Amino acid sequence: MKIGVLGSGDVGKALAGGFFKYGHQVMLGSRDADASKLTEWAAQNPAGQTGNFADAARFGDLVVLAMKGTAALDALRLAGAANLAGKPVIDATNPIADAPPVNGVLKFFTTLDQSLMEQLQSAFPDAHFVKAFNSVGNSLMVNPQFAEGRPTMFICGNNPAAKATVGAILDQFGWETADMGNVEAARAIEPLCMLWLIPGFTRNEWGHAFKLLRRD
Ligand SMILES: NC(=O)c1ccc[n+]([C@@H]2O[C@H](COP(=O)([O-])OP(=O)(O)OC[C@H]3O[C@@H](n4cnc5c(N)ncnc54)[C@H](OP(=O)(O)O)[C@@H]3O)[C@@H](O)[C@H]2O)c1
Repeated sequence: MKIGVLGSGDVGKALAGGFFKYGHQVMLGSRDADASKLTEWAAQNPAGQTGNFADAARFGDLVVLAMKGTAALDALRLAGAANLAGKPVIDATNPIADAPPVNGVLKFFTTLDQSLMEQLQSAFPDAHFVKAFNSVGNSLMVNPQFAEGRPTMFICGNNPAAKATVGAILDQFGWETADMGNVEAARAIEPLCMLWLIPGFTRNEWGHAFKLLRRD
C-alpha cells in the first residue's frame, strides 16, 4: 500500500518504519516540506518520500494522523478534505492539553462526552477514521515483544472496511485487535493513553502494553 503519514514526530517516524518493514511505500509529511527533520529522515530512509501534509494525504491509499492533538484539526485542513475522502485514516493522536500532568495524570482538552476523533470525523465526514496506536509508546508500536504474547490494540471507527484494513496492519505489526465499535468508543480509548503514561511519569517505567483477557 501507499501510506501517507501526517506527522514528523516520534510516532510518525516509528509507524513509517513499520510500514517500510512490511513492504509498503511511505511519504512522511510535515507543515514544511523542506523542514530539516524531513531531510534528515529522508537521508536515513532512502526509500521514503517526503512532502507537506497535502502531498502526504494525496499520496496515501491509507493516511496516518500522528499529530499533536491540539493541531490535529488544523493539520487535516492543511491536508485537504478531498485528499482524505474515502480513505482509512489511522488516528494515533491524543487530546493532550497544554498543561503539565498532576501526579502523573495528564489533562485532556476534550470531555468524556466527546472525543477528539469524534471532532475529526464530524469535520471530515468522508474520511474513515480508525483510532489505533494511541495507547502505547512509539518504541513499542511495531512488533513489541512480551513474554505474555501479543498485546491488545483497542480500535474503533465507523467504517468496517477501514477497520479491517487497520486490523490487518496491526496483525503485521504484532498486535491483536479489539474492535470497540463506532467513533464514540474513542471517548474510552483516548484516555488509555493517560493510563499508559502514569507508570512512565511516576516511576520511569515505559515497557508495558495493555492486554484484554477473554474467557471462552
Ligand atoms: N510519542 C509517543 O510515543 C506517542 C504514543 C502514542 C500516541 N501519541 C500521540 O501521537 C501524536 C503524535 O505524537 P508525537 O510524539 O509523534 O509528536 P508531536 O510532537 O505530538 O506532534 C508532531 C507533529 O505535530 C505537528 N504540529 C505541531 N504543532 C502544529 C500546528 N500548530 N499545526 C499543525 N501541525 C502541528 C508537527 O508538525 P511539523 O512536522 O510541521 O513540525 C508534527 O508533524 C500525539 O497526539 C501524541 O499524543 C504519541
